[in-house]
Amino acid sequence: MRVTIVGPGYVGLPSAVVFAGLGHHVFLLGNIPEQVERLQKGEIHLHEPGLAESFRDLVREGKIVPTLSYADAIPSADVVVIAVGTPSGKYGEADLRYVFAAVRDLAEHLSDYTVVAMKSTVPVGTAEKVREIISAVILSSPPPLAGPRWKRWAKDLDSSPPKADQNDRPITFDVASCPEFLREGTALFDTKNPDRIVIGVTSDKARDLLLELHQELPGERVVTDPKSAECIKYASNAFLATKISFINEIANICEGVGADVTEVARGMGLDSRIGSKFLKAGLGWSGSCFPKDVRALHHIAFSNNYEPQILKAAIEVNNDQRRRLVAKLHAALGGDLQGKTIAILGLAFKPHTDDIRESAAIDLIYLLQQKGAHVRVHDPVARPDDRDVFKDVRFMDSAQDAVRDADAVVIATEWPEFKELDWRALRAIVRNPFIADGRNLLDPKLMRAAGWKYASVGRP
Ligand code: UGA
Repeated sequence: MRVTIVGPGYVGLPSAVVFAGLGHHVFLLGNIPEQVERLQKGEIHLHEPGLAESFRDLVREGKIVPTLSYADAIPSADVVVIAVGTPSGKYGEADLRYVFAAVRDLAEHLSDYTVVAMKSTVPVGTAEKVREIISAVILSSPPPLAGPRWKRWAKDLDSSPPKADQNDRPITFDVASCPEFLREGTALFDTKNPDRIVIGVTSDKARDLLLELHQELPGERVVTDPKSAECIKYASNAFLATKISFINEIANICEGVGADVTEVARGMGLDSRIGSKFLKAGLGWSGSCFPKDVRALHHIAFSNNYEPQILKAAIEVNNDQRRRLVAKLHAALGGDLQGKTIAILGLAFKPHTDDIRESAAIDLIYLLQQKGAHVRVHDPVARPDDRDVFKDVRFMDSAQDAVRDADAVVIATEWPEFKELDWRALRAIVRNPFIADGRNLLDPKLMRAAGWKYASVGRP
């Protein structure tokens, strides 16, 4: 099968690798010339375990063809997968400008029956809008020799063949919703081993093509309508985020009563109705998906006259996790952070990625700077970008450099490297041995034995 993936990002790249690995021919469409040039050499621009090697091999074998050209990549495609970003807009709504731009561009090059499958996380009803956009583009540029069949369709937008080629053969397309559930840091594994594959379609033809595309992959198939498929994606992310906020709330209660949230989570998680995953208490959820998707669902609810109380609470608890950690630092440093040096270990929103979008560390930097603290950061992989919050932050090449002479240390990302550090040796170079472990990464007993004053989240 011939697949074109629009958007060589955190979803598009692993999808390209997995589909090409299954034997499909993949075009990978980008819109940044320097980036596509690198992709054509087999180099990727992001950190994701295992991805660089597989991608390089598949490009060399000609199984993935990165390109800037819609004219090359669209006409022959059986399925076009849209995997471009949908950042948050001003009011928390999903900003669909990249989706719609890609759709307009691809619409001009459709030449045979094609399924346009949305993998970008988009508001409920977007597949329908995409269908309208494609139809409008096609209608505004009839083929040069448009014949009677085209003209009949053009008069009546509701009839099905929306496009005719130069020989007046009717050409149709379908728009489907095929949401992605991969996690950054384990993107390849997740794409190859999905729990379920959700296919939201309005025609049997699109359903059959998408089932064929995913044929070799494991997981239940959930064939449904596009709106329900779009809703499954938001509901899944919002549920997981809420589960994390719930355990964080329990962690905060544990702090009051002297219980250990890791024990509580273990005991809860063994109930198969609850499940043990996503019950890790800490600084809360961050990254490119949960924050924006929970906000977007919140916005969708409001736009449909419903006030989402659970989502609202999940967001508030999440914001509080960052503030509570800063309050612990504040209390530990005598009620004043002015002029104090705080070493933050971890900038990425989770380990094994270089993605810093909406990372907890950024919120901490902001809150600490507001209180007059000097902030140093070390991350094994992630790097700062040009946003203002980083202007006065010192980025250090090693944890040792970050911790030296610091007044307190914070673990913001649970990189395994941080667990392996020689905390006894670090104790000797820090000015004040206070550590706030925002990810419950380290062992409280070992840390105290190594001479640290140790605070974590929901553990005595
Ligand atoms: C999330 C979902 O897990 C994926 O299913 C979905 O496809 C993806 O969003 C997306 O919509 O693209 P991702 O954001 O990459 O994946 O990473 P997660 O592993 O879900 O972690 C999200 C945040 O929750 C991180 O900040 C992580 O530290 C935090 N988290 C996770 C916790 O605080 N506790 C946990 O128990 C689990």
